[in-house]
Amino acid sequence: MKIVVAGGTGFLGRAVAGSLLDSGHAVTVLTRNPDRVSAIPRLAGANATRGDVTDASTLRGTLAGADAVVCAVQFPNHPIEVERRGLTYDRFDRLGTENLIGEAQASGVERFLYLSGAGADPASDKVWYRAKGRAEESLRRSGLRYVILRPSWAYGPGDQALSKFASIARFSPLLPQLGLRPQRIQPVHVDDVALSARRSFEQTEDAWDKTFEIGGPEVMTMNEVLHTLLDVMGLRRLVVPVPTALAKLGTAPLKLLPSPPMTPQGIEFAVQDGVVDTSLLEEVLEVHPVPLRVGLERYLVP
Ligand SMILES: NC(=O)c1ccc[n+]([C@@H]2O[C@H](COP(=O)([O-])OP(=O)(O)OC[C@H]3O[C@@H](n4cnc5c(N)ncnc54)[C@H](OP(=O)(O)O)[C@@H]3O)[C@@H](O)[C@H]2O)c1
Repeated sequence: MKIVVAGGTGFLGRAVAGSLLDSGHAVTVLTRNPDRVSAIPRLAGANATRGDVTDASTLRGTLAGADAVVCAVQFPNHPIEVERRGLTYDRFDRLGTENLIGEAQASGVERFLYLSGAGADPASDKVWYRAKGRAEESLRRSGLRYVILRPSWAYGPGDQALSKFASIARFSPLLPQLGLRPQRIQPVHVDDVALSARRSFEQTEDAWDKTFEIGGPEVMTMNEVLHTLLDVMGLRRLVVPVPTALAKLGTAPLKLLPSPPMTPQGIEFAVQDGVVDTSLLEEVLEVHPVPLRVGLERYLVP
């Protein structure tokens, strides 16, 4: 198949594109900067095309001749929205996805795989769930064949969350843990998300017009996640819980910076739960995600 992967240079998109290349698909990465693609080893053999999903006019013709599109786009410095610079969930997750759906329809592309997220809900009071929920609704109504993947908290080489904790743990005797409440998540290795996308294209028609939640086999608290990380790295560190209210208060003034390193909204995003039901994933796509310890050992143990 000829598959265009929007966001193919990103953390999840790169793994998805790489996995599709491994199974013999012709992959084109849609990016704002096509020159980057040839420098990414996992994308060896992929073509590149320029496009900005927030501007529908830049997408014209980018999907010509494609059989399918994958959308794995996220705004830079996610999850920190900067409204005055247009970096918002609504503009990227909703409008960006809708622009890509519109271009797929205009180009006669038959299939669309959307990287949504656990908890997506068009009626949610949280902008991130709402934007993804509305994008999902647009896709279901589009007439395209669709697969929606809703990962929980994804980790792996190059992620934006666990890798930061690993870096802090390497030099600091203390490891901060956001929130006092036991946050419940199902960490999933990036390769299991990529495999889910690949299987969607390999499986029978059964995979299509469905929504799959993706998460690891264990529901864990963040404290358990951090202790597993330390254990795999062979380190002993003190994990120090930081109350969410205190973290929000401390980051509030950063909102005024042009590129805030963190904001109260970003803290709220980071402490949310991510519990999913993987029964459809296991039954239809036959993907059985690995436990966190196994996933971490793949890249943290020399
Ligand atoms: N990471 C997770 O744990 C996780 C969990 C659940 C769901 N998800 C979802 O999975 C998707 C991918 O997430 P990620 O963590 O892989 O994101 P990421 O690493 O930040 O990558 C984002 C990608 O979006 C592209 N992009 C940014 N702005 C663009 C624009 N205007 N037009 C076209 N492409 C643009 C970037 O490509 P260029 O810079 O090359 O243009 C980059 O490849 C997102 O929808 C995210 O919400 C992620």
